Amino acid sequence: MNRFSVTTSRPYDILIGEGIIGDSGKFIRECIKPCRACIVTDSNVNHLYLEGVLQSLRDNGFQTSKIVFPEGEHSKNLPTYSNILESLAEEGLSRSDLIVALGGGVVGDLSGFAAATYLRGIKYIQIPTTFLAAVDSSVGGKTAVNLNYGKNLAGAFWQPSMVICDYKTFDTLPQEEILNGVAEAVKSAMIMEQGLIDHIQAQDYEYVIERCVSIKKSIVEADERDTGMRQLLNFGHTVGHSLEKLSSYNISHGAGVATGMVVESRAAYKMGLTEYDASGYLTEILEGFGFDLSIPYTLEQIYKYALNDKKIKDDSIAMVIPEALGKCRLHRISLEDLQEFLRLGLE
Ligand SMILES: NC(=O)c1ccc[n+]([C@@H]2O[C@H](COP(=O)([O-])OP(=O)(O)OC[C@H]3O[C@@H](n4cnc5c(N)ncnc54)[C@H](O)[C@@H]3O)[C@@H](O)[C@H]2O)c1
Repeated sequence: MNRFSVTTSRPYDILIGEGIIGDSGKFIRECIKPCRACIVTDSNVNHLYLEGVLQSLRDNGFQTSKIVFPEGEHSKNLPTYSNILESLAEEGLSRSDLIVALGGGVVGDLSGFAAATYLRGIKYIQIPTTFLAAVDSSVGGKTAVNLNYGKNLAGAFWQPSMVICDYKTFDTLPQEEILNGVAEAVKSAMIMEQGLIDHIQAQDYEYVIERCVSIKKSIVEADERDTGMRQLLNFGHTVGHSLEKLSSYNISHGAGVATGMVVESRAAYKMGLTEYDASGYLTEILEGFGFDLSIPYTLEQIYKYALNDKKIKDDSIAMVIPEALGKCRLHRISLEDLQEFLRLGLE
C-alpha cells in the first residue's frame, strides 16, 4: 500500500492499495476517533462493498448507519442532496460525527457537499470505487450537485479527512465505467505527463492512480480554490459538460470529457492559440480505447449550455490550450469569441 499526504487547508492522507477496503475502519481510526459514521452509497455499490466497510467500521468502534440512493448521474441533484441531509438529521449525526462516501464520483460529490453543509460542515472520508473517482474526483475537495441549468452549479470546496482507494474494487466495474476513468487519466497525461498514456494503455492501474493522484495533489496544493492553475484540470470539460447535459446525462462524464478534449484542442489550434494540434493524436488514442467521439448536437445547442459553465467570470472563460503533449496553458476567451471557438472545434 502507498500513502500520499495532501497539504491543503485541511491536510489528509490518500491510501492506495489492492484489497485494503476491508481495513477501512482501521485506517479511518488513525485520523478520527470512534464516533457515529454514516456511510453514503448508491444502489449498485450497496450490494458490492457496503457490508464489508460497515463491518470494518463496527470492528473499530464506530457506530454505523447507511444512506443508499439510486445509482447514476440522474441522482446528483437537489432532491437527493436534500434527502441525504434529512436522513443525517434523522440519524442525529452531530458535528463530531462522520460521513463515509463509498462509491464513484456521484457518491463522492453528493456526500462531500452534504458533509460541507450539514451543521455547517462535518468530516467525511472518500472511498472511491470507480476508476474515475480514484484518479480524479475523490481528491481535491470539490463537491457539487447539478442544477436544471447545468453541471455542478451548486457546491463547495470541502476537503475529505482521508481517501482510501482500493483498486481491487475495479474488478466489478463494467468496461464503460473503466473508460470514464481513462478519459480523466488521459486528461492528466495531456496537461502534465505524456508518459502516462503508455501505462493507461497497459491498464497498470496502480501506477496510473498514483501518478494521477500525485499530479492532482500538486495542482490542488498550489491552487486549492480553483482560481489559477487548477483550472487546467478542466481540459475538455466545457464541451464535455454541455454534451452530458444535452444528452440528459446519457452521455457519461468520461465520454463527454473525451470528446471535449478533441473539440477544444482543434478549436485552440484553428483559432491560432497554439501551433500544436493535439486533436489528431487524441482522436487516435481515444478511439483506440473505444470512445465514440461523434457529436449528435449543433453548435447552437452546445454554445447555449457552455454559457452556463461555472468557470465564466467577467464575460470570459478560461480554456485549456495544449502546447505539446503533457503541456497545457490557460487562456481566457471572451464569451463573444467562445461561439467562434466552438464552431472551429466542431468543424
Ligand atoms: N469532484 C471532482 O473533482 C470531480 C472530478 C471528476 C468528476 N467528477 C464527477 O464524478 C461523476 C462521475 O463519477 P463516476 O464516473 O465514478 O460515476 P458514478 O459515481 O455514477 O459511478 C458509475 C457507475 O459505476 C457504479 N459503480 C461504482 N463503483 C462500482 C464498482 N466497484 N463495481 C461496479 N459498479 C460500480 C455506480 O453505481 C454507477 O452506476 C460526475 O458527476 C462528475 O461530474 C467530480
